[in-house]
Amino acid sequence: MKHASPPNFDQSAFKQALGQFATGVTVITTRAASGQLIGITASSFNSVSLDPPLVLWSLATRSASMPVFRSNSHYVVNVLAASQIDLCKRFATVKGDRFEGVSHAAGDSGMPVLDGALAWFECHNRSRYEEGDHVIFVGEVERCGVHEHAAEISPLVFQSGQFHGLKSI
Ligand SMILES: Cc1cc2nc3c(=O)[nH]c(=O)nc-3n(C[C@H](O)[C@H](O)[C@H](O)COP(=O)(O)O)c2cc1C
Repeated sequence: MKHASPPNFDQSAFKQALGQFATGVTVITTRAASGQLIGITASSFNSVSLDPPLVLWSLATRSASMPVFRSNSHYVVNVLAASQIDLCKRFATVKGDRFEGVSHAAGDSGMPVLDGALAWFECHNRSRYEEGDHVIFVGEVERCGVHEHAAEISPLVFQSGQFHGLKSI
């Protein structure tokens, strides 16, 4: 196979183009062996396989949470509702305890599930692939759930650096 040619764009043009792809927003949560709760905002979530049930997301290599996500056996992908925009910002920026004042409950694996999430996926940390400056995590879904009023709740949508609700067309 032929090798890739060097990029004909700079990093900001690449980011701008990537940003046009509208995504939902998730908070990925886990509990470290020490008991410390860890969470990170991620829009890189996507589905992979129905059988077995697999999902993926990617985490920057430089992320402070990387050692815990790399080694923990389980994590939860929490899909945010538009009304949870403060959680999105909190889990992307706060340096100390990101769970302070955040209501949650332990799933069967003991990992935190955020109250009010539009959907959640409790995953076994099945595999990891180092690519460039990120690690791609593939999770095997053991349990999932949907908010009981999901049909009336708008997801949080991220596009071109801005947050949106969702309008039908
Ligand atoms: C909307 C949004 C989506 C994000 N998606 C990702 C992502 O998919 N992967 C990632 O590594 N960081 C993502 N980030 C950035 C992380 O949330 C942020 O760098 C986080 O504070 C890292 O925490 P840590 O260094 O404590 O692990 C996103 C931030 C926002 C606001």
